[in-house]
Amino acid sequence: MNQTITKKSEKTEVPENAGSEQVVTALRQVVADTYALMGQTHLCHWNVRGPGFFALHEAFEQQYTELFEAVDEIAERVRALGALAPGGLGNLAAMAGMTELNEDAGAKEMVRHLAAVHRHTVANLTRARDLAGEADDNESEDLVIARIQVHEKTIWMLESFLEE
Ligand SMILES: [Fe+2]
Repeated sequence: MNQTITKKSEKTEVPENAGSEQVVTALRQVVADTYALMGQTHLCHWNVRGPGFFALHEAFEQQYTELFEAVDEIAERVRALGALAPGGLGNLAAMAGMTELNEDAGAKEMVRHLAAVHRHTVANLTRARDLAGEADDNESEDLVIARIQVHEKTIWMLESFLEE
């Protein structure tokens, strides 16, 4: 009897805390999206010019700082689920697959671009949220719900700036 139990546990290759493969894949995508968005926001912080300079330079700094902390938390959630986190600028950029902004982009173009990238990130976060819900992974679900809220707030602020 005991032998049967031992055999069963030996067969279990996946650690107890392993996340569903789909949740892990979705979270890894969000890591790439967030990292790429952070890089684009940093570029905007450096290169923004014009009458909105002071407000945007400051706002972009707050945004990339927040994204830097967030991406660490999401990547570490991937690790807690037993998977590896994606890294490397080239790899992350390829995974994110985003259109990159030119260095000489105008302030409004920057804001429009960032708002679109935030929306794209929210779409992938929503997918991660739904998959985590289906997998009963409440912790991942909570994490991505909190991220969606932050991105939606940032979209609201960016899009408000664009209003005449
Ligand atoms: Fe700076």
